[in-house]
Amino acid sequence: MSIELYRDKNHACIMFTDLIEEDGQAVQANQFLIVDDDTGAIIDPGGNLAFNELFMGMTTHFPPHKLSYLIASHADPDIIASLDRWLTSTKASLVISRVWERFAPHFTKVGKTENRVIGVPDSGGHLPLGRHELVLLPAHFMHSEGNFHFYDPVSKILFTGDLGVSMMSGAEASRPVTDLQAHIPRMEGFHRRYMVSNKILRLWVNMARQLDIAMIVPQHGAPIMGKPAIQDFFAWIENLKCGIDLFDDRAYQVPTAHIDPVTRQMRPALRQVG
Ligand SMILES: [Fe+2]
Ligand SMILES: [Fe+2]
Repeated sequence: MSIELYRDKNHACIMFTDLIEEDGQAVQANQFLIVDDDTGAIIDPGGNLAFNELFMGMTTHFPPHKLSYLIASHADPDIIASLDRWLTSTKASLVISRVWERFAPHFTKVGKTENRVIGVPDSGGHLPLGRHELVLLPAHFMHSEGNFHFYDPVSKILFTGDLGVSMMSGAEASRPVTDLQAHIPRMEGFHRRYMVSNKILRLWVNMARQLDIAMIVPQHGAPIMGKPAIQDFFAWIENLKCGIDLFDDRAYQVPTAHIDPVTRQMRPALRQVG
């Protein structure tokens, strides 16, 4: 199922929330299609689990063979493990951090990425999209070392990859959240472990507050919609201790536990760090 996050006569932002079978093995993930006039881009196309469904699902909105870009916030498997199939089935270029430019070809057959990768420098930039553009915003270390968020000035949507994510089903992810306080418990554990440090979150909030944002749309879980919830998100994230803020010498001890390959459990059971 696809959800229209925004549509006017020339421009549309479509979200897919439930393309991956919910058997509990793979984390729920969202994929996005942005169309401006006759130009189309996919943001965070996903892994092999999502490819067939997304390719078929997008055809009602935009012909895949006309896609211009595959835009990747970072290089994790749930973002671009399907790269080989997209490069085979479309003429699109991969837009990704320069940090990952020479790593991405490991997802594809030999030569497939030749002249098809746009490596984005750390400072980001404006990428033309039809009659408009997408702003590629620096979001490094949130969580990936080379990471970008994507601001669409037409819809005023900020696509934030793994920032602002929440753990839920695809059906729940299709319903935007407007009350942040009730939503925090579904975001907190992920952000404490996957975000690198509070310093990075504060630097990002200083940049993001300069944008006129209608919706923050993460790659897992529900969009955060409306100014009050977005202000609350900024206030929450800029005060959150995470990643290396929470790790100390207790996390770096020579292990004593043993892995039982039959039960796939640790003996004795591990205590949670952080
Ligand atoms: Fe990630
Ligand atoms: Fe992710």
